[in-house]
Amino acid sequence: MSLSKEVPADAFPQGFAWGAATAAYQIEGCWDMDGKGPSIWDTFCHAKGRVFEDQTGDVACNSYQLWEEDLKCIQQLGLTHYRLSLSWSRLLPDGTTNYINPKGVAYYNKVINDLIASAVMPMVTLNHFDLPQALENRGGWKSPEIADVFDSYAKFCFKTFGDRVKLWITVNEPYVCAKHGYEDGLYAPGLREPGTSVYLVGHNMLRAHSKAWHSYDANFRHLQGGKVSIALSSDWAEPLDPSNPEDVSATERYMDFILGWFACPVFCTGDYPEKMKTRIEARNLELGFSEGPRLPKFSEDEPNPLGTADFFALNYYTSRKVKNTSSHRSELSFKGDQGAEVVMDPSWPICGVSWLAVVPEGLRKLLNYIKETYNNPDIYITENGFSQIGPVELEDIERWQFYQDTLQEVSKAIRDDGVSVTGYFAWTLMDNFEWAEGFRARFGLFHVDFSRAELKRTVYHSGREYAAVISRHRTHIKLEKT
Ligand code: GAL
Repeated sequence: MSLSKEVPADAFPQGFAWGAATAAYQIEGCWDMDGKGPSIWDTFCHAKGRVFEDQTGDVACNSYQLWEEDLKCIQQLGLTHYRLSLSWSRLLPDGTTNYINPKGVAYYNKVINDLIASAVMPMVTLNHFDLPQALENRGGWKSPEIADVFDSYAKFCFKTFGDRVKLWITVNEPYVCAKHGYEDGLYAPGLREPGTSVYLVGHNMLRAHSKAWHSYDANFRHLQGGKVSIALSSDWAEPLDPSNPEDVSATERYMDFILGWFACPVFCTGDYPEKMKTRIEARNLELGFSEGPRLPKFSEDEPNPLGTADFFALNYYTSRKVKNTSSHRSELSFKGDQGAEVVMDPSWPICGVSWLAVVPEGLRKLLNYIKETYNNPDIYITENGFSQIGPVELEDIERWQFYQDTLQEVSKAIRDDGVSVTGYFAWTLMDNFEWAEGFRARFGLFHVDFSRAELKRTVYHSGREYAAVISRHRTHIKLEKT
C-alpha cells in the first residue's frame, strides 16, 4: 500500500454524499420478534455447517432494539447519507402485501424519521440478500412470479416511506446473490445448480428491478421526486499478459459476466452483452445442452430494463488479474461459460478475508471504465471497505490507510478524469454479521463487542479519521459559499 497524504478538503465537489452502509440481516437481529417472518438467511444459518462456527444473525448487532446507538455512531461520523436495507419479511412476513406487519413499519418509520431529523439522507435498499422464506417456498428468485411480488413490495415501500426516502436501491448485488446462492451454494438459499439457475435468478432479479423502477416512474416520481437504481458489484480486472489477445478477451469476458450481465441491459442495450450471449450459446452446443436457453430472453410483453436506473450504484472491493482458461470446459457451470481464471497479483496485500486484495487504484480504473462503457452516468459508490480478521485493533491504521488511498483515487477520478462520482458509502458503519464468514471478518468503522449483551459500539481510528475528512469537507464548502 502506498503512503498517501491526508485527503485534501477541496478534493470533493459540493453536494458530495458522505455515507456508510449496512444491511438488515447483518445488523438487526430479533429475527423472529414482533411478527417478523423468517428469511432465507434465517433458514440458511439455522442449518448446521453453512456459516463459520455455525454463527447466525439471530442477534447480530441488535439494531432492531439498539437503533439509537447506531444513530449516535452515524452522528459521530457526521455522515450526510446512510444506506440501510429493509427486511422484507419484517414488513411483509410472508413476502406479500396480504398482511403488513405494523411493528415492522413503525421500526423503519422511526429509523427514517430519526435520520431526517439529524439531517442524514437515507438511501434504502429493498432487498439485500434476505428474501422472505415464504417466497422461497414458492420458488423464490427462480420463479417467474417473483417479479410481480417484488413489484408489489416495492410499491408498498414507495407509498409508505417515499415521502421521506429519495434514494432507492431495488436489489443489492444480483451477481453475488445469484452466484453464491444458486451456483456455489455459499450463500442462502445454498443451492448448487451449476450453469443454469444462476442465469434464471439474475434474469428474474432484473425483471423485478425493471418493474419496480417503472412503477416508481409512473406512480411516484412526480409526487416524491426520488431516484431508483440497482446496486451492482464488480471487481476491476486486467489481463495477466496484456500482450496476449486470449488473456485480453478473457478479461473482457470476466467483466461482462460480472458487471456487463446487469449493467448492459440497464445502461446500454436492454439486453445481455453480445459476448455473453454468444459464449453461452456456443457452450450449449459444445456440451450438447438442449433444455432451452440457459440465458433467458427479455420478453417484449414486459417493461424492458433499458434506462431503469437514475444513477449507477457501484459496490467495489477488489481487483484481479485474468488469464484465459479452458480448464472447466467440459462442465456445465458459470465458470466454464466465463472461461477466465483469476490470478492474484502478489504485490497486492490481502486484508482479512482471502478474496479481498487491497487495490484502491482499481477503483479509479473501474470508475473510468463505467464512464466509457455505460454512457457516463452519475455514480454512487454504494459499498467499499476493508476487513480485519484476528485480534481486534482499535487503532486500525491499515484500514485508515486504505480509506485514504481510496478517497484519493476517487478524487482523481472526479477531478482529473471527469467521472461523475456523486457519493461514497463506506462498508460498513459497524462490525456485523459478514454472511458465511460470521462475525470473524470485521469491516466496521465502529467496533462491536459481540462478547457482551450490550453489544457496545466503539469508534475505530478509521472512523475518527473518516469523520475528520467529512468535517473538513463540510467546512471547506461553507467557506467557499461565503
Ligand atoms: C458485499 C455485500 C455486503 C458485505 C460486503 C463485504 O458483497 O453487499 O453485505 O457483506 O460484501 O463482504
